[in-house]
Amino acid sequence: MDFLSNSRFKGIEKFDKKVWLSSPTMHGDEQRWVDEAIQTNWVSTVGQNINVVEEQAASIIGRPCAVALSAGTAALHLAIRLAGEKLYGSAMPNHGVLEGKKVFASDMTFDATVNPVCYEGGELVFIDTEYDSWNMDPVALEKAFQLYPDVRLIVVAHLYGTPGKVEEIRRIADEHGALIVEDAAESFGSTYKVEPGSALEKKLGKTGNIQTGCFGDISIISFNGNKIITGSSGGMLFCDDKADADKVRKWSTQAREAAAWYQHEELGYNYRMSNIIAGVVRGQLPYLSEHIEQKREIYRRYKEGLKDLPVSMNPIPSNTVPNYWLSCMLVEEGSMAPFVRGEKDELWKSESGKSSPGEILGALSFFGAEGRPIWKPMHMQPIYRTSSFITTEGNGRGRSNAYISGSGVDVGADIFRRGLCLPSDNKMTVEQQDRVIEIIHRCFQ
Ligand SMILES: Cc1ncc(COP(=O)(O)O)c(C=O)c1O
Repeated sequence: MDFLSNSRFKGIEKFDKKVWLSSPTMHGDEQRWVDEAIQTNWVSTVGQNINVVEEQAASIIGRPCAVALSAGTAALHLAIRLAGEKLYGSAMPNHGVLEGKKVFASDMTFDATVNPVCYEGGELVFIDTEYDSWNMDPVALEKAFQLYPDVRLIVVAHLYGTPGKVEEIRRIADEHGALIVEDAAESFGSTYKVEPGSALEKKLGKTGNIQTGCFGDISIISFNGNKIITGSSGGMLFCDDKADADKVRKWSTQAREAAAWYQHEELGYNYRMSNIIAGVVRGQLPYLSEHIEQKREIYRRYKEGLKDLPVSMNPIPSNTVPNYWLSCMLVEEGSMAPFVRGEKDELWKSESGKSSPGEILGALSFFGAEGRPIWKPMHMQPIYRTSSFITTEGNGRGRSNAYISGSGVDVGADIFRRGLCLPSDNKMTVEQQDRVIEIIHRCFQ
């Protein structure tokens, strides 16, 4: 659609340079460590950059062990395999460790959170989202344990940099003897307040503002190009036990036994971080607080600039300090203009005083700014259509009845329909952000 010929957008100019959702922000130090790796010829999956970033990331997060890997997805795979082996023992090389086992997982997230459960042959049961933090709903998780009391593994993500209800989730997990794999890919640097006497204090032995990456039995972060700290790619796994960290390191480098030749007793992977990527991460790590501060300011300006519209920002629970990775917004139900999405296409219509994520994202894109729909919930994805989905009401599938009005709750579907991610690049200028805010206002005219 040509928004320029629409009188509502009169006077708005296209951006000269694209405004990104969240692009890498390099500082120069990255070059130094990459150059050093090249000059010293340590360019493979061994080297000082890897050792340093493991030490520094462990220290930032506050956890004894960190293992540098090629991607957050690789870290999730090995975290889930490790959890699976702890629960059910090892598997034959041509079988996954989770075969025949159900696993509870966040529903509204990137598919990288949940896919590794399938790599290991597990059966996903998706847990609905709550409005307070846009993360896994502990009430729905309790319901899931009522329906499937044998489940022993929970995979939980913190979306857009805001920690989920980890105290409640830890309490429920402990009650059922379940392990937690924590996907903190998007929330590096975010904290959650652990209270004295809580289930988390019992588990962690500490209170106060604790970093995400500490709350899972095994946890991960991502250094993907769009994350708050990037290595261009890369990921990190965190755990408490050195033997577990060593096991993951071994698996990530083809699971070689101690022999002069390549001797293998376990299935291996080529998942280790390279010393070049680690050089980029090493140059970036000192800037974590600065990036968080910039993202916090972006969120604050959106909140202020959009306060007169019938929208709200992604919520920040009072016991969390997010890293504000992406600023998101939700259109009030009564102010939603007609908007439908199919599997690949969407249709929206303008209506005075109303708008929709379709229209807003269309307008932003037209003028040269990158927004994004909210993660489409996993239970709505064609690949996972047959997986179970649990809401606060119990089984979330088949809730409507041809002869009775009403249908069940589905918080993830609602946030997906009404929400969107706003341009949140930490290099976005105030003027650019003001124009983004103005474009959103015009959508509601
Ligand atoms: C929630 C979440 N989990 C997992 C990943 C996977 O990380 P990576 O891209 O490093 O494999 C990402 C991002 O890419 C993510 O946003």
